[in-house]
Amino acid sequence: MLPNLDAVPPEEEPLRRDLAEYGVKSLLFVPMHAARRLVGAIAFVRYEEEDDWSAEFIRLANVAADIYASAFARRAGDRRADAHRNELAHVLRVGTMSQLAADIVHEIRQPLAAIVNFVNGCRRLLAGDRLGRGELTRVLEDIETEARRVNQVLDGVYRHVRRGAPQKAWAELNGLVQEVISLMRREFGLAGAELDVRLERDVPPVEVDAVQIQQVLVNLVRNAREALSDGDRPGRVLVATRRCGEDAIEIIVEDNGPQIPEEIAEKLFSPFFSTKPQGLGLGLSISRSIAEAHGGSLSLDENQPGQVRFTLRLPARSGSGVRP
Ligand SMILES: Nc1ncnc2c1ncn2[C@@H]1O[C@H](COP(=O)(O)OP(=O)(O)OP(=O)(O)O)[C@@H](O)[C@H]1O
Ligand SMILES: [Mg+2]
Repeated sequence: MLPNLDAVPPEEEPLRRDLAEYGVKSLLFVPMHAARRLVGAIAFVRYEEEDDWSAEFIRLANVAADIYASAFARRAGDRRADAHRNELAHVLRVGTMSQLAADIVHEIRQPLAAIVNFVNGCRRLLAGDRLGRGELTRVLEDIETEARRVNQVLDGVYRHVRRGAPQKAWAELNGLVQEVISLMRREFGLAGAELDVRLERDVPPVEVDAVQIQQVLVNLVRNAREALSDGDRPGRVLVATRRCGEDAIEIIVEDNGPQIPEEIAEKLFSPFFSTKPQGLGLGLSISRSIAEAHGGSLSLDENQPGQVRFTLRLPARSGSGVRP
């Protein structure tokens, strides 16, 4: 508090000169504290006359500083939570990518091999002087189709690893589910497990970030597959969609693995909780935050031996299945 410029300590002479130059007569700084940390200050300046800053004025100024400080702290907290969520989502996408890498390599190798075959075929025909215009046009078209396929796969990869805010658009849920299933079939084949799909017809469209929702599905289906035991029952995972009342859609992912013990079930959705040697423990926590960011929910709603079910519920357009 500086009632007048004579109160400025002698060692701060440059400050006193600056204040005098700006015509400042009195100055009051009120510090803003949040969680016992200094987060800023409010300055009151008198230009017309000197002011002793009454106790009542200082009290009110402190109240105002507290209000601003808590608003700042809340905003900083929100920003930190957003940054944390984006960071986690990114880590998860990249982690899942490395597991999907084998599938992606496989997806790309096939069209590349086809292109090489077409080119070799052309070479042979050329060498024998048997390459007509029509034949060449057909082969070029085939090559183009295969090259486009490679491009499509790479686009998909890019969408998964790219970081960014959710980009919502109206989408058909069944289509999104089917894309994920076709990517994951190979994993199930290798593990000798079954992957069943039961899609309800005419589910209404949902407004979602398709990549994020597919990420949730990949996480749930992969968890389900990893939970299948080598017991006597053949491992089976069921993915189903169903309309739930007028304004919600559910996607269920159910496996016939062992029941999840109570003490584990309590912690499933906590970040970095994992019972797997290679697990990051992020799959379910990120998936739940994605579900909630869509105004939906993700829960474990059946847990008994041979039937473990996770349900992702999303708000849908009520009424008809007509796209707006
Ligand atoms: N379908 C399931 N059946 C039994 N346990 C499950 C199932 N899904 C998840 N869990 C348990 O929940 C834990 C947390 O799952 P989460 O997906 O968050 O992490 P994770 O699979 O261990 O690692 P990652 O980050 O690679 O996904 C798992 O380690 C596992 O113990
Ligand atoms: Mg997981």
